[in-house]
Amino acid sequence: MRPLIAPSVLASDFANLQSEVEMLNKSQADWLHIDIMDGRFVPNISFGFPVMQAIKKHAQKPMDVHLMIVEPELYIEQFRAAGADVISVHIEACNHLHRTIQQIKATGAKAGVAVNPHTSVNLLDDIIADLDLVCIMSVNPGFGGQKFIENTYRKTEALKNLIIQRNSQSLIEIDGGVNQQNAPKLLQSGADVLVAGSFVFTAEDPIATIANLKQSSN
Ligand code: DX5
Ligand code: ZN
Repeated sequence: MRPLIAPSVLASDFANLQSEVEMLNKSQADWLHIDIMDGRFVPNISFGFPVMQAIKKHAQKPMDVHLMIVEPELYIEQFRAAGADVISVHIEACNHLHRTIQQIKATGAKAGVAVNPHTSVNLLDDIIADLDLVCIMSVNPGFGGQKFIENTYRKTEALKNLIIQRNSQSLIEIDGGVNQQNAPKLLQSGADVLVAGSFVFTAEDPIATIANLKQSSN
């Protein structure tokens, strides 16, 4: 099985967003990964609804929205209305994760949970059967272009085992520092979706870079 590739628009040229999205439309990218940061959950602010709507206007692929915000439950319906197809909330930001997952599903979007590098995937034991996606952070969220954390492989294997054990349909997404070198081992560990920001957008040929990532195999 080939991985799904989700380039992170955070690393694109915001002054040329339309052409960047059109490039992704032409490429073998499966999803557009949309990073929302609030300056509270993470020490950075990215962009919000107007920019997301502008992306949606040109995007021909599903929008995979990664909410790095506190109290995400206050904005789920608005993110869905702005075009989100998959919505992931951070486990560290949710006091009532089960309720928030049901809230996401009620909008018709797919529901995901993101986990920071310090968060054990064992905490997902009682929710994994309800999830469409788990996003394992392979860097500390907040910035693109950071170094991949090696413990991610072990964590991905542990999550894969949990998914099998609980008979869950959840996909495993890896987010942060993903490149051509670590992709094969991530797939071997059980990853289904690879997010890649700077690796794609700083490449001389982003379309070829996406195609190469898509060809990665374990
Ligand atoms: C980090 C974001 C990532 C980021 C990935 O907080 O969640 O999606 O854009 O960028 P790279 O691939 O450059 O690490
Ligand atoms: Zn992300």
